Amino acid sequence: MDGAGVVGKARKGKERSKGLTYQEVLDLDTRDVPAVLREQSVPDLGTAPVAIARYTDPAFFREEVEKLWLRTWQYACREEEIPNPGDYVLYDVVGKSLLIVRQSDGGVKAFANSCLHRGRKLATAGGCKERFRCMYHGWTWNKDGSFAENPMPWDFPQAQPEKLSLPEAKVGLWGGFVFINFDQAAAPLESVLDPLPRHFERWRLEDCYKAVHVAKMIPANWKAVSEAFMESHHSLTTHPQILPYLADENSQYDILSDHVTRHISASGVPSPFVDQKKISQDDIIAAMFSTSGRTTGADAATIKVPEGATARAYAADIFRQTMSAEDGHDYSDKSDAEMLDAILYNVFPNMSFWAGFAPNLVYRWRPVGLSHEQTLMEVIRLKRIPKTGPRPRPAPMHMLSETEGWRDAPELGPLCDIFEQDMANLPYVQEGLNASMSGLVHFGRYSEMRIRQHHIMLDRYLAR
Ligand SMILES: [Fe+2]
Repeated sequence: MDGAGVVGKARKGKERSKGLTYQEVLDLDTRDVPAVLREQSVPDLGTAPVAIARYTDPAFFREEVEKLWLRTWQYACREEEIPNPGDYVLYDVVGKSLLIVRQSDGGVKAFANSCLHRGRKLATAGGCKERFRCMYHGWTWNKDGSFAENPMPWDFPQAQPEKLSLPEAKVGLWGGFVFINFDQAAAPLESVLDPLPRHFERWRLEDCYKAVHVAKMIPANWKAVSEAFMESHHSLTTHPQILPYLADENSQYDILSDHVTRHISASGVPSPFVDQKKISQDDIIAAMFSTSGRTTGADAATIKVPEGATARAYAADIFRQTMSAEDGHDYSDKSDAEMLDAILYNVFPNMSFWAGFAPNLVYRWRPVGLSHEQTLMEVIRLKRIPKTGPRPRPAPMHMLSETEGWRDAPELGPLCDIFEQDMANLPYVQEGLNASMSGLVHFGRYSEMRIRQHHIMLDRYLAR
């Protein structure tokens, strides 16, 4: 992290929330806490304001297309979506389109979804094919990208089959995800993900399946949308219903590497914004079970925390039991933190992976086509593959229409309310950015440090 300044222990005091630090919450855990949750990395990234044009200027966006979107690693699909040779999905971003194809040797390749004859897309939806035949004039490629056939070779003396392989993007694999990079000269995926693989060794997203996948077009710049999920303190006004059980203002924020940042909000602990004297352990657990998306089958209002226990420890125990009953795995030695907390890792530029053993969420943000004011937001929920029985099939993407909201995705459970609240802000964020007369936005020194890092990395790519 060049120029990142001091990397050290987060300090408590006037520069932090007066609430418990996350590390102090971990001290009370009923189990051993994994060492990676004890790591902290808090560079001083400063407090300089940031130009709003970064969200509103089409010329700035065109720079991002060339220097960022066509040069960064991006999560394209889950491996489980293309289990067999010839299985393929499409990955579209900034007007480009890739065929992500499972090979006979088990590997994955990514090819330009564009006929080398007159340019038609070779496929418009995923499927399984041995050969990709253009629907326009019939030029055909094998699933390994090599040229197979031209129905009229006599008229194309310039087209030598050995030089007609489909152009490829780089492919990398981690955690059951397939990543692509349009830039053949890009650094390896591993160098960009570090330290994510080390941190996730215990949480093994490769042992999960895609249980839920919901998407919607959001009328706002891709950064405005993704940055709405990089801090927790918007809960005060955006999600007041979760304040009884979410330690939002006192979340921990870390810059773990150039590309990887993290924030952690303890669950089962009230927000510092709540009057601590007026809230009981039963209030905490009732709010938690009615709004967190994690149900026990019991009526939330009837759950009572046993005498002497905390809501946090009791909720973690309930989740250990209910998850174990559901998927057959043993969670008895997993920490309260891993069962409960919102532990979000971000990988620059556009992905977020939730850690721990709660059903893991994944977010992905992409500009829609070449619009700087339209973003495709996807919410994916991974679940552990059950210990016995067949591997569940990955859920297909449920695309919400323009008139539908996140409450039209009941598969998200009560989380749909939270996403609806988040997304309801975003059109007005973009409108407000466009309406700004100061031309600047401000980020908190600590709680919005990850957003600042996002812009630092963006600048670094744009300077290349
Ligand atoms: Fe939110």
